Amino acid sequence: MFMDEKRIYRSQKDGQKCIFLITAVALLQCGLCCPKECSCEYLLVNCTARQLEDFPTDIPMDTRQLILTHNNLTYLSSMDLNLLIDLVYLDCSHNVLGDSLEATFIAVPLVYLDLSHNNISKITTGTFYLLTSLVVLKLSDNPYLEEIEKDAFANNTGLRQLDLSRTALTYIDVTTVSELPSLRTLGLSSNPWDCYCPMKDFLKWVTESDIYFTDEENMTCMTPVQIYGESLKETEKHINLMCFTNLYERDYIFLMLVGFVIFGSGTVVAWLTGVCVVIYDRLCGTTEDDEDEDEEPPPPPSKPKKKEEEA
Ligand SMILES: *[C@@H]1O[C@H](CO)[C@@H](O)[C@H](O)[C@H]1NC(C)=O
Ligand SMILES: *[C@@H]1O[C@H](CO)[C@@H](O)[C@H](O)[C@H]1NC(C)=O
Ligand SMILES: *[C@@H]1O[C@H](CO)[C@@H](O)[C@H](O)[C@H]1NC(C)=O
Ligand SMILES: *[C@@H]1O[C@H](CO)[C@@H](O)[C@H](O)[C@H]1NC(C)=O
Ligand SMILES: *[C@@H]1O[C@H](CO)[C@@H](O)[C@H](O)[C@H]1NC(C)=O
Repeated sequence: MFMDEKRIYRSQKDGQKCIFLITAVALLQCGLCCPKECSCEYLLVNCTARQLEDFPTDIPMDTRQLILTHNNLTYLSSMDLNLLIDLVYLDCSHNVLGDSLEATFIAVPLVYLDLSHNNISKITTGTFYLLTSLVVLKLSDNPYLEEIEKDAFANNTGLRQLDLSRTALTYIDVTTVSELPSLRTLGLSSNPWDCYCPMKDFLKWVTESDIYFTDEENMTCMTPVQIYGESLKETEKHINLMCFTNLYERDYIFLMLVGFVIFGSGTVVAWLTGVCVVIYDRLCGTTEDDEDEDEEPPPPPSKPKKKEEEA
């Protein structure tokens, strides 16, 4: 009994030693480990301009700031990225990231995310919806970026700065940006905005909001041609002329038009029918008319004849 207890005590102590050793080695390794292409300072991993085509491995797990700018990355490895559970700052600008970003950002508590100068063409609801701590998001200079889904930033309620400049965006739903409670700075410049009726609410919001718009002088309409180059903030009168001010009025006018057309065409058809009947009568009915005229007069004289016969 005594021996057994001693043995157990000893093996427990050995176990603790073992765990301590493993932890120490792991810490030592992690303290030293750094992707071979990158430079690592305290909690900062800098992989600027190393012609990287793949996401670097061996990034210390406690990294707070990761810089991958000016590389040739076409995708971000979700598995490697989401091991970095302390990562708050990620700069992936100047790469060739495409549309594989959905479900990429899962467990990273990012506050700052730079995806400018890439090859992204679409932002969906599934791209940023788990980045609930995001404060700065840069998507500018993605020359093929054509679509941002309506609720793409719905969960990014802390977003203060959003840059969508120099993309291919022609349209954006107003609620995508207007319902961001913390938004202070918004970049919309040098996009080929289509300032037509579907954009009416967005243009109204741009005119009335007190958000700071970066590079406001280049925030202009591309189409329709009549207002090419006009500032987004000065389109309201054109829009009001082009599009009716509200849906009810438009529907009302439409219904009135339909009613008028039906009424008018009915009247015209009735009138034409009348005219045709009269013309037909005049042209083809002359012989019948003559016969009628011949036949009709006789009856009055015949009546007295009948009476005479009866009598
Ligand atoms: C990252 O490294 C590049 C040069 O490789 C340097 O110019 C840049 O300032 C560094 N960034 C930071 C945040 O240290
Ligand atoms: C990375 O991209 C640059 C241009 O951005 C190019 O000059 C270079 O050849 C590319 N490197 C690789 C390894 O593809
Ligand atoms: C960028 O995206 C466009 C279309 O979305 C594609 O045609 C082009 O090849 C892409 N460029 C690179 C460098 O991946
Ligand atoms: C917002 O994030 C939560 C998880 O944090 C998720 O369950 C929810 O579906 C997200 N909402 C949207 C609109 O994506
Ligand atoms: C507006 O865009 C032009 C080129 O498109 C550029 O030269 C100019 O610097 C921009 N204005 C501002 C204030 O950035």
